[in-house]
Parts: sequence; C-alpha cells; structure tokens
Amino acid sequence: MVIETERLILRPFTVSDASDVLEYLREPAVNCFASMKLNSLEEAETEMKNRCGEIEYYFAITLKDTGKVIGEIDAYPESDDPSEDDKRPKGTFSPCWMLNKEYQGHGYAYEAAYAFFDYLFKEKGARRIYAYTEDYNTSSQHLCEKLGMRREGLFLEFISFVNNPDGTPRYENTYQYAILKKEWYKQNED
Ligand SMILES: CC(C)(COP(=O)(O)OP(=O)(O)OC[C@H]1O[C@@H](n2cnc3c(N)ncnc32)[C@H](O)[C@@H]1OP(=O)(O)O)[C@@H](O)C(=O)NCCC(=O)NCCS
Repeated sequence: MVIETERLILRPFTVSDASDVLEYLREPAVNCFASMKLNSLEEAETEMKNRCGEIEYYFAITLKDTGKVIGEIDAYPESDDPSEDDKRPKGTFSPCWMLNKEYQGHGYAYEAAYAFFDYLFKEKGARRIYAYTEDYNTSSQHLCEKLGMRREGLFLEFISFVNNPDGTPRYENTYQYAILKKEWYKQNED
C-alpha cells in the first residue's frame, strides 16, 4: 500500500532505508521509543528486514522530491470487544509517529498523520483512533489537537519506559487523545 500526499509518499519499508532510519533511531527522541534504539547500520538493516512484510499498517514517511525517509507512522487494529471475542472486526487503532528532528516544523507530521487517519477510517475499518502522549511532549499533543482529537484524560504515573539514575522506574504522566470515525467525517466534510 502506498499513500500519496502533496509533498510525501507513505510506503512500506525496504532494507535500503536502513541508513535514513538510523539517523533518527540512533537516539530516539522520546522515552516511549527507547526500546527502538538502533546502534549500528547492521542493526538498522536487520530491523528493516523485520519491517519489510508490513505493508498495511506500518509506513515510512518519505519526501516525494528526494525519496528520503524522514520518519515513520504506524497503527495496528486492536479489538474493541471487552470479551476479547475475536469475531467482531477490530476497529480501534493507536498510532505511533516519529520524524527525524531535521525535518520537524515543516508540517510533514500533520500531512502524514492526516493521510494515515483518512486511510484507517476510510479503508481499514477504523471506528476510533486514540493516542497516548506524555505530558511534556507538547509537539505530539499539538499534532493530536491539529488532527481534531479530543483530550480524554491524564493518567498520572501511567507507565515507565526508562529507569532513574538510582535504578528505580521513572513513571510518566500520559495524556490520552481520541477521535471517532463520525467526528473525523464531520470535521473533514466539504
Ligand atoms: C510529534 C512530531 C512527529 C511532530 O512533528 P512536527 O514537525 O512538530 O509537526 P508538524 O508536521 O505538524 O509541523 C508543525 C509545524 O510545522 C510548521 N510548518 C512549516 N511549514 C509548514 C507547512 N508547509 N505546512 C504546515 N506546517 C508547516 C508550522 O509552524 C507547524 O506548526 P503549527 O501546527 O503550529 O502551524 C515530532 O515532534 C516528533 O517526531 N517527535 C519525536 C517523536 C514523538 O514524540 N512521537 C510521539 C510520541 S507520543
């Protein structure tokens, strides 16, 4: 699957994307991506090989002009059935988004996320899209709000991705944002 916008192409990863991805995953920008850290080109190539089969829900964000991979966006279908009976279609998605810092502040994240949300709602059966973002991550909160997501709540000391210097878990305060399919259609109708 390929998603095209004015300035971007969102497409599945290939092994040759390794060096572009290493640029932004050598030092993951936020704690929630700490486990994605890549230490070498070799590690990046292995990671790209793992991502190659992901063709529906995991996209490289590339510049249309140059083909450079400047970031990534993904979200997988989650069950919205509390009984976990898998018979109902999975209509809940929670995106992760990340841009190389050299390419932030140009509207690329919004352009990519808008197209990705539209794809999930219109082609992949999304009913609700929600996002978690830490309380200090104002860029990600801003992106959620620009996409029309509602801030639904703040979970105090919700999760820990890294440890404090003394070895104890560092807990993060996390906002949840969400948007429903009907809200997406309403705000984006012509
Ligand atoms: C979250 C993240 C993806 C947001 O990226 P971003 O570049 O700040 O977001 P946008 O693409 O929406 O660009 C924002 C700004 O670009 C500027 N901009 C410049 N040229 C522009 C253009 N042609 N069109 C639109 N905006 C443009 C605007 O000032 C815009 O700000 P505004 O929305 O107030 O108008 C980025 O900060 C990131 O990768 N962070 C690290 C990873 C992360 O935190 N992920 C989320 C974990 S919860």
